[in-house]
Amino acid sequence: MADLAPAEGPVLEQILDATYEIWHEGLDRRAYARYYAAQRATPWGRAHLSRVALVDRGDVHASAKLYAFDATLDGRSMRVAGIGAVFTQPAHRRRGAAKELLERLLDRASKDGAHKADIALLFSEIGPEYYARLGFVPIVTSEQQLRVIESTRCGAPATWVRFGDDRDLPAVAALGETRAAPFRFHLNRDRDLIHYSIAKKRLLAGLGPAGARELQFFVAEEGTSAVAYVVISANRMGNGVAWTLEECGDRDPTGARVGAILQVLIARDPAEHRPVIRAWLPANFRPRQLAVVGEQAPHEIMMMKPLTPAGEAARTLKAEELLYWRADAF
Ligand SMILES: CC(C)(COP(=O)(O)OP(=O)(O)OC[C@H]1O[C@@H](n2cnc3c(N)ncnc32)[C@H](O)[C@@H]1OP(=O)(O)O)[C@@H](O)C(=O)NCCC(=O)NCCS
Repeated sequence: MADLAPAEGPVLEQILDATYEIWHEGLDRRAYARYYAAQRATPWGRAHLSRVALVDRGDVHASAKLYAFDATLDGRSMRVAGIGAVFTQPAHRRRGAAKELLERLLDRASKDGAHKADIALLFSEIGPEYYARLGFVPIVTSEQQLRVIESTRCGAPATWVRFGDDRDLPAVAALGETRAAPFRFHLNRDRDLIHYSIAKKRLLAGLGPAGARELQFFVAEEGTSAVAYVVISANRMGNGVAWTLEECGDRDPTGARVGAILQVLIARDPAEHRPVIRAWLPANFRPRQLAVVGEQAPHEIMMMKPLTPAGEAARTLKAEELLYWRADAF
């Protein structure tokens, strides 16, 4: 019988060799390995990110990443087991390896002492059916395409915008906590998780081909503390740039400062092709400087599976009842 083992050393190499082709995101093979190692070396990654494999005498059958998140559902704190990068080595496909891996992984996660998870969460790239058979319920969410409405004053609005850095993270976490509070479900995003999330995109940009990707973290401040911020992944595509608004926050409930920051960023380069911005905005957060030009279901389908009685309420979640930033998709 195959063992459920941590993916390290030669086991991890087998997994990276096989998964590289579909998940390299433009990195070369060496950078692909460094990308994962560097994520694990962050303060959050060390404690909350791991990879598990079903291994038989050194031969990997299937593997997955496991993220241990803290979250809130209906006002109760709970732990969420995030499952990512589910993969069966090509030679072992269609023999139930992924099913066995997931069942054993979730069984362990639901009993695991201090890390006992109430809910399993994943983002399916292969439609909902496979995971529905394993008890996961799809949560219908939507992705917006946004355009920045440019200031009629033909220039940047008078908002002081600067690069964000680590000293802003406590303020960013506090803005997020206030915004998330009314929602039935959200991750509890502390400083380390926000740092991890930004570091991950920065690593991807830094390890990839020069100029292809960029991570932009900007804040607007009042006094000395950040009162609004945006985190954007910018991808160069042909002549243009595609932006993903990974996350944002604003002390102003309407998001007026987030809108102003985006106007400032657009005005930096008047000749640049205007990007369409992809985002997973929380319900009721529509800064007036942003026009929603499209809305559709994201390619990755959010799915949850309750693992304990406390997690059962996750089955009834509706899109407008949860807050989940694109930054935290895995
Ligand atoms: C999806 C995957 C993990 C399934 O692994 P597996 O060990 O072969 O899975 P199981 O034996 O438990 O189940 C096989 C069933 O998976 C389903 N399945 C496999 N690939 C699928 C896909 N791309 N889309 C939808 N369903 C798929 C099929 O129903 C298949 O049954 P069939 O062969 O009778 O049609 C494997 O095909 C894989 O590694 N694919 C590449 C990576 C990937 O796409 N991972 C999912 C990310 S969300």
